[in-house]
Amino acid sequence: MEVSKAIENRRSIRDFKQEDINKEIVEDILNCGRLAPSAKNRQPWYFVVVKSEIKNKIADMMIDYTITTNDAIERKKLGYANSANPTANVIKQAPILILIFKPKDDHWIVGDNLSIGACVQNICLRATDLGLGSLWIRDIAYVSEKVAEMLGHGDLELNCAVSLGIPNQCPKPRPRKKLEDIIEWL
Ligand SMILES: Cc1cc2nc3c(=O)[nH]c(=O)nc-3n(C[C@H](O)[C@H](O)[C@H](O)COP(=O)(O)O)c2cc1C
Repeated sequence: MEVSKAIENRRSIRDFKQEDINKEIVEDILNCGRLAPSAKNRQPWYFVVVKSEIKNKIADMMIDYTITTNDAIERKKLGYANSANPTANVIKQAPILILIFKPKDDHWIVGDNLSIGACVQNICLRATDLGLGSLWIRDIAYVSEKVAEMLGHGDLELNCAVSLGIPNQCPKPRPRKKLEDIIEWL
């Protein structure tokens, strides 16, 4: 598929078929993430692929968080969003969850976050190219420390995640700002 077609066709998928994706395909997709550009070529990504019980446990941790975090300051600090609960249900439904970790390094926060954005976009576009669906997930941030500890990666920061699987829906394109409203030629 042409890159421009993949960009055009990609959607956030929130309904997946209950069919697994084989390891070679997941590795092909992650290889496209690996090839992304990165600030100072730091390649600040580390992928952990989780399925079945561990995946569902992570989703349950997100649901527990939305139920048990009543502290208003804590919720505001974390940018509390009601979307964490529906996102957790997407995680449960999709066969694969890719966790994207990055180094804990205060000097490289912006550069590393930008680099991970490039990496995750490559992942989502390759998934589209292969006829698969993906959902880029930030809602996992609410439980990122707990998840990192649980998986023995407390030395890293869980930045975001991607749910992956065979799509069971064809969402219409979500609205975008007009090009003329976001460009200024000087
Ligand atoms: C950095 C980032 C984080 C996102 N986090 C979530 C999330 O946690 N849960 C969710 O349902 N969608 C999430 N999305 C998907 C967006 O809601 C979606 O990209 C946007 O609404 C546009 O829709 P589209 O992807 O179908 O074009 C995220 C997207 C990005 C780029």
